[in-house]
Amino acid sequence: MDISGIAVARVRQAGACALHRSVFARLPGQGRWVTVLLADGNIGIGGVPDALLRRCARLLAPGGRLLIEVEHDDIDERMTAWLEHPDGRRGPVFPWARLGVSALLKRAAAAEGPKQRMPASASASATPATSGASGPTTTSETPRT
Ligand SMILES: C[S@@+](CC[C@H](N)C(=O)[O-])C[C@H]1O[C@@H](n2cnc3c(N)ncnc32)[C@H](O)[C@@H]1O
Repeated sequence: MDISGIAVARVRQAGACALHRSVFARLPGQGRWVTVLLADGNIGIGGVPDALLRRCARLLAPGGRLLIEVEHDDIDERMTAWLEHPDGRRGPVFPWARLGVSALLKRAAAAEGPKQRMPASASASATPATSGASGPTTTSETPRT
């Protein structure tokens, strides 16, 4: 799923299913997802990782898995960011976050509540996000701690 129509169109062209919707919007099968994958730095969506973790936990079925790609560095940053095309054009500014594995695991543990527990098998890989060489890159400034 993606809020970008272009991203959704590319996935559909490749033959897979995709929803043109926000992860925070109403989604099919809430509470029944077997796996939620936040790859490519997407734990940054919305700029408030705790809210995104809670949202993903609500999507999962009991025993489901939340897979999250994190930064190599031991960081826990909030920032504003924007997409920048190779020709210098900039997209709108949006809130973002970057987390290393220890910050992520701390936040995942904190997101556990008495009624809503993150799945015990929730795990994170320490593979850094990569970006395409010719496409827009994400640039950031104004860390918010
Ligand atoms: C780090 S980029 C991922 C880039 C993509 N994996 C690629 O290889 O081109 C972040 C993606 O999250 C999407 N996004 C941002 N906010 C979102 C939201 N609330 N719900 C769903 N997707 C969102 C953006 O449109 C963007 O495609």
